[in-house]
Amino acid sequence: MTHSRIPNFYKMNLDERRAKLTEALAPQTPPNFDSWTSGGLSAETAAHMIENVVGLHSLPLGIGLNFQVNGRDVLVPMVIEEPSVVAGASFMAKLVRASGGFVAQASEPLMIGQLQVLGAGDLESAAARVLAHKAELLEYVNAAESSLKSRGGGARDIEARVIADSPIGAFLVVHLVYDVRDAMGANAVNTACEQLAPKVEALTGGRVHLRILSNLSDKRLAKATCAVPVKELAFDNFSGEAVRDGIIAAYAFAAADPYRAATHNKGIMNGVDAVVLATGNDWRAIEAGAHAYAARSGRYTSLTTWGKDAQGNLVGAIEIPLAVGIVGGATKVHAGAQAAIKLMEVKTAAELAEIIACVGLAQNMAALRALATEGIQRGHMSLHARQVALAAGAEGEWVERVASQMVAENVIRTERAEEILRELRR
Ligand code: MEV
Repeated sequence: MTHSRIPNFYKMNLDERRAKLTEALAPQTPPNFDSWTSGGLSAETAAHMIENVVGLHSLPLGIGLNFQVNGRDVLVPMVIEEPSVVAGASFMAKLVRASGGFVAQASEPLMIGQLQVLGAGDLESAAARVLAHKAELLEYVNAAESSLKSRGGGARDIEARVIADSPIGAFLVVHLVYDVRDAMGANAVNTACEQLAPKVEALTGGRVHLRILSNLSDKRLAKATCAVPVKELAFDNFSGEAVRDGIIAAYAFAAADPYRAATHNKGIMNGVDAVVLATGNDWRAIEAGAHAYAARSGRYTSLTTWGKDAQGNLVGAIEIPLAVGIVGGATKVHAGAQAAIKLMEVKTAAELAEIIACVGLAQNMAALRALATEGIQRGHMSLHARQVALAAGAEGEWVERVASQMVAENVIRTERAEEILRELRR
C-alpha cells in the first residue's frame, strides 16, 4: 500500500526523494526513475511523433504528496514550470487528509463524435429518421473492427440536434456517443464518425460535411469533493473561520463574474494540466473541454463550488470533463508518461480522471486560501526567487542562498541575483 505522506520531502536531494518514493511504494516496484531524468523520450522516437523534429523540450516533474483518493494514498506526478503549484496542492491534500481525503467519481468514458449534415431538407423529419434507425446505425458502427471494441468499448447511442440558426442557416448535427474505455478515444471516435457518414447521408438525403470528435466531453465527467475541519484552516493570525469564509467569498466572486472565473479556473487547470502532461495526455483537449463546460449555462463560471456544512467544515466540489487515457497515443511511447501512470498505480482511465479532479480541487483551494489571506505573492516570491537565482547562474546550494537573500531584501531581480552571486564567489 502506497504512503503519500512523506515528511520533509521538499528538503531532500533528488536521490533521497527517489529513495523515499521507493519506500513509499513498497512492496510495489517503483517506476523507472531514469525515464524522468532523460525526459522519457529519445529525439529519435520524437521524430516519429510529429513533423520537422530537431530536439526535445523538458519541464520539471514534481510529486504531489499527501493525496488520499477514495481511501487510497496516491503519489501524484506533476509536470509544470510554475513555482508553488506542487507545494500548494500537496499542502491542501494534507489538510483534506485530516478528514479522510477526497471522494471522487468518474462517469462512464463516453465521448461524442459529431457529424454536420448539410442540405437535409426538412431537418426535424431528417432528425426523426436518424433516431428511428438508431439501433441499425449502432450495429453498423459496432460491426467494424476497432481495438476499443475488444476492450469492451463501442458505439452506445445516437443523438440528433437541429441547429436552427448559424452563419449558413439551419442544419442538422448527428452525435455518435462512443464508449472509449481506457483510451482518450479521439482516433476511435473520428474513425467511427467517418464510417457512419454514408449511412447518415442515405437516411437524411443530406451531405455529411464535418466528421469529428467534440472536445466538450460532457458525458465523460469526473467529480470530486472534500471537507476540511475548520480548525485545520487556521494559520498565523488567521482563524479557521476567517480562512473558511474567505475561501467561500473568493469562490462567490468566480461564481458570479467571468473575469474572475477565468483566473479561478486557470488555477484549477494548473493542477489538472500538470497531471495530464505527466501522463502524456492531450492537455489542449482537456483545456478546451473544461472551459466549454464552465460556460455550459450560457455564462462562463467556476468549475468548483465552496461552502460549509452543518458542522462548519469547509466543503468543496469540482465537476470537470476529463477525456484522459492510459492506453494508446503518447501515453504508450513516452517512458516518462508510463512511469507516471505506474507511480499512481491506476488501472483504468476513470481512476486517473478521479485523481486529476482531486488535484484540480486541491489546487483551487490552495489559490483561494492564499488570495483570501496573505495574498498570492508571499509564497510565490520565495519560489520565484529561486528561478531568478537559477537564471542568474546560481547552482547547487547557492540557489537557495541567493534566493533567501533576495526574499529578505524584498528585491527579486536578476541583476541583484548576479550581484549576490559575485559577492558569494568573492
Ligand atoms: C496563478 O497561476 C493561478 C491563480 O491566479 C489562481 C487564482 O487566482 O485563483 C493564483
